[in-house]
Amino acid sequence: MIIDKFKLNGKVALVTGGARGLGRGIAQGLAEAGADIAVASRTVEEGKKAAEEMTALGRKALAVQADVSKLSEVYRLIDEVVNHFGRLDVLVNAAGFNIRKHFLDFTEEDYESLMAVQLRAVFFASQRAAKVMKEQGGGKIINIGSLTCVEFAGPNIALYGTAKSGVLGLTRGMAKDLAPYNINVNAIGPGWFKTKMTEKVFQDEANVQRMLSRLPLGRFGVPEDLAGAAVFLASSASDYITGQIIFVDGGWLIN
Ligand SMILES: NC(=O)c1ccc[n+]([C@@H]2O[C@H](COP(=O)([O-])OP(=O)(O)OC[C@H]3O[C@@H](n4cnc5c(N)ncnc54)[C@H](O)[C@@H]3O)[C@@H](O)[C@H]2O)c1
Repeated sequence: MIIDKFKLNGKVALVTGGARGLGRGIAQGLAEAGADIAVASRTVEEGKKAAEEMTALGRKALAVQADVSKLSEVYRLIDEVVNHFGRLDVLVNAAGFNIRKHFLDFTEEDYESLMAVQLRAVFFASQRAAKVMKEQGGGKIINIGSLTCVEFAGPNIALYGTAKSGVLGLTRGMAKDLAPYNINVNAIGPGWFKTKMTEKVFQDEANVQRMLSRLPLGRFGVPEDLAGAAVFLASSASDYITGQIIFVDGGWLIN
């Protein structure tokens, strides 16, 4: 039955940045669909709170503290999850942040710190996870892209757009190389969601009204809006889809 293909019971999913914002909405969706969940977060408290909420759903849950800007912590994170659960079926790379500046003002330090989290961590967490998935006979990797992966550029986000365009290229490259191992790699492209990362954007009321007027579905996204796409891409319902990005953007890109 097709509905059974969406079920994630018996699967183990790791969501980086899973303690809050979009990653939290995705982790919740995967847990509701049956997966056991590892939540990676920068602070222990944040991760533990999220893990407790997953446990309340009847799932096994693990909170792992890791700063994914450091490669040693990226590797430790993957290893800790695999050691704890004995497997890893789904990796969602959702940790991220932004540095908003005019292109002329970005420093080398800005570049290194943003790329470390938004691109390098995605690359090497996926590589480490894919080695485990290959041994297991398959898996699913879901990257979080952005409108900036394609035809959108706002002011002061050249660095962010560089990283997110890289995430889409990485998604496609991994999809190709990992296909023989039954590992699907796709991305979700969220539109406008009010989170800690975007709170400044939402403080400008004129900008909020301008964005709203461009949104065909007439509202901003909430983290739960990503759960459907995430469960689909994590499940065997999407077994014949790889190297794609699904925009969950309220229709923004059709304008
Ligand atoms: N909010 C939006 O509108 C939007 C749109 C498109 C894409 N995104 C992307 O979605 C992802 C989640 O962002 P969000 O909006 O939920 O923001 P958020 O600030 O609410 O959450 C980001 C999460 O990433 C974690 N994180 C950041 N740096 C980290 C590090 N060095 N090590 C470990 N964890 C780290 C944070 O602790 C937090 O849990 C990001 O990749 C972001 O670029 C967000």
